[in-house]
Amino acid sequence: MLVVDFGAQYAQLIARRVREARVYSEIVPHTATVEEIVARKPKAIILSGGPSSVYAQGAPRVDPALFGAGVPAFGICYGFQAMASALGGTVQRTGLSEFGRTELEVTGADSTLFHGLPAQQPVWMSHGDAVTEAPEGFRVVATSAGAPVAAFEDTARGLAGVQFHPEVLHSAHGQAVLEHFLYEIAGCEPSWTTDSIVEDQVAAIREQVGSKRVVCGLSGGVDSAVAAALVQRAVGDQLTCVFVDHGLLRKDEARQVEEDFVAATGVSLKVVDAKERFLSALAGVTDPETKRKTIGREFIRVFEQAAAEVVAEGDAAGEPVEFLVQGTLYPDIVESGGGAGTATIKSHHNVGGLPEDLQFALVEPLRTLFKDEVRKVGLELGLPEEIVWRQPFPGPGLGIRIIGEVTEDRLAILREADAIAREELTLAGLDRDIWQCPVVLLADVRSVGVQGDGRTYGHPVVLRPVTSEDAMTADWARVPYDVLARISTRITNEVREINRVTLDVTSKPPGTIEWE
Ligand code: XMP
Repeated sequence: MLVVDFGAQYAQLIARRVREARVYSEIVPHTATVEEIVARKPKAIILSGGPSSVYAQGAPRVDPALFGAGVPAFGICYGFQAMASALGGTVQRTGLSEFGRTELEVTGADSTLFHGLPAQQPVWMSHGDAVTEAPEGFRVVATSAGAPVAAFEDTARGLAGVQFHPEVLHSAHGQAVLEHFLYEIAGCEPSWTTDSIVEDQVAAIREQVGSKRVVCGLSGGVDSAVAAALVQRAVGDQLTCVFVDHGLLRKDEARQVEEDFVAATGVSLKVVDAKERFLSALAGVTDPETKRKTIGREFIRVFEQAAAEVVAEGDAAGEPVEFLVQGTLYPDIVESGGGAGTATIKSHHNVGGLPEDLQFALVEPLRTLFKDEVRKVGLELGLPEEIVWRQPFPGPGLGIRIIGEVTEDRLAILREADAIAREELTLAGLDRDIWQCPVVLLADVRSVGVQGDGRTYGHPVVLRPVTSEDAMTADWARVPYDVLARISTRITNEVREINRVTLDVTSKPPGTIEWE
């Protein structure tokens, strides 16, 4: 299944929902020609939503030939309007925009898209233009106050579309509508699973790497761990992992990588203790971007040196190491293809961001997967749950969760507070509901408190629990008050330097998830 992308935000979500329906999906840009799309032999295509009006100058167009190519197609929002317009229907600005939750009235209870679903259902809309007349041959099967034609289908030609966004969870029966298209109109089989990935990737890695040696940077995060475990499964001792302990890790993190990961995979691991080096490089640095760049730069130097040592050892025949494993995921690939002209909000630092003069060929066994799929593969490979279900953790680590200068003492304070928050969230069974919960130390702020009978003048920490599907947008998590109370009491009791715990209730946007 190919998703034709008219606006990146939605395309990824659609591709994930299709995979949840157990149909393998990939995303192509709307600039792909009909020939290019057809050459990939998709079972079906979905035209995504997007920010333009079909009549706007320069709006991405759909070549009508796409609908005559014999490939079933489903249009969503903009894709729906583009399909209508390309096939001779009418799209107009009616003045009746719909944004957010909207009541949908199903007029075709026996239609393929809506059979078995309620006649009235809440859906998520986001449109200014509307289809006012369906193209010839299409049956109108749903309507809403602002969208006279809110869904249509022409099952004989394998074409259908909806004005609303079936991919967002607020559309109560969106997934069912999507599945009706996939299975019943497009004839896709719900057969794709992550099971076959391990086998396929092991074969592909063996083929790519042959008998050469491979190096992999471990960050402690799930992506690099799963990528390394896959490569280890494929080529065993030919892989050496490098783990840089920059001293900005959470409590127990280094031990988990050094002991649990090695025990689960048998990987050969080179640990570099670079705590001192990072602390001295960070001395006096308070500006967030300078901090990020300093950590990124030092990381590359340390990693480069360690990798060079592995390289110098050569392979069995004395040949240099040629391959570098990276835990790149599908969203990274899609985003780096569509990132032209986007603003740099933060300079993200990733393991393996190596300078160009170190010539490695990349092994990226996760490049077609989303995060939830990577977790499934990790479990299948026998990685411990603590590693597989670990919350995302930024490359620059606790360094960007200390607002102010990073020092050893401040790291120790934050590490304790963070460990308490994580422990209580885990005990409350919230790990899988919460995307992540950074704990942020406001190291340059002090406030007056009272503990025992004495006055304190300590630091506040901020709890930043968020829910998210992909970290691009996020909402603050509604953690139950009793859990928050336990975290607050324990942190102020157990971490002497902290006398106040606050909660960040900002969504992203306008806030970002991390504070720096
Ligand atoms: P922001 O703060 O930009 O974070 O909303 C989005 C997600 O990315 C993580 N993050 C990073 N991950 N290197 C990483 O590998 C980085 O430099 C970095 N900065 C932020 C953050 O934890 C959140 O999950």
